[in-house]
Amino acid sequence: MTSTLLQTRDLVARYGAVEVLHGIDLTISDSEIVVVLGPNGAGKTTLLRAISRVVSTRGEIELAGTNVAGWTGARMARAGVGHVPEGRGTFADLTVEENLRLGSLARPRRLRSSTQADLAHVYETFPVLANQKRCVAGVMSGGQQQMLAVGRALMARPRLLLIDEPSLGLAPIPTRELFEVLARLRTDWSTSLVIVEQNARLSLAVADQVVVLAGGQVAAAGPAAELSDGDAIKRAYLGEPAGTEGIGAST
Ligand SMILES: Nc1ncnc2c1ncn2[C@@H]1O[C@H](COP(=O)(O)OP(=O)(O)O)[C@@H](O)[C@H]1O
Ligand SMILES: [Mg+2]
Repeated sequence: MTSTLLQTRDLVARYGAVEVLHGIDLTISDSEIVVVLGPNGAGKTTLLRAISRVVSTRGEIELAGTNVAGWTGARMARAGVGHVPEGRGTFADLTVEENLRLGSLARPRRLRSSTQADLAHVYETFPVLANQKRCVAGVMSGGQQQMLAVGRALMARPRLLLIDEPSLGLAPIPTRELFEVLARLRTDWSTSLVIVEQNARLSLAVADQVVVLAGGQVAAAGPAAELSDGDAIKRAYLGEPAGTEGIGAST
């Protein structure tokens, strides 16, 4: 049976006087992969920041049934909400392993004794990081750095992982490799994921639920299988004329 992990109702976010999210209703279940699509400026990054409580909001937000609207970002992180921001947030002059160890600081102190086991688990998930554990992050390829950013977030053992535009700046092959791993995290790490993406085709192929944001509102939402068959989504986000086949086809 699936249960609700995170729920927002009428979530509103603003920067200063400017409101950019105008009442978002979102439900994320355990082990679900939610993909958020939408044009630049739609509010996708702000939605992730609102969920991880680093922008202030109005409206309801519950994590596993607990009202978290008054929580800080640090408290959300300790409660298991991981956030891989746009631009990754890794430290270019630290080694891979040093970056990963920093990730474990986000979780409650009582869990930190297991850092060694979690490191081994990250290396199993991303073997390329194991091979480069003593390299400084800054010399790795973009795809490897994105894996490091995800690995670092995993070190806090999130039950909800928010990932902002992981494919940004990556070539098609590294992007596909990354998505293959992301699709496995729900079982390998028992986590739900919210992935903000511009690469609609690839992200729809791994998604359970799709949310299309436009102008700070939900323009469309539903099971990925239904939405990705919809002509409107194809035209707007996959660059295809209505009626053409092709979800999951190689790019
Ligand atoms: N720190 C900020 N201060 C003021 N306005 C912002 C800030 N960050 C984003 N915005 C505005 O909020 C809107 C949504 O931005 P964002 O959430 O980054 O969209 P997306 O990630 O979908 O491109 C945009 O109009 C953007 O200009
Ligand atoms: Mg963004």
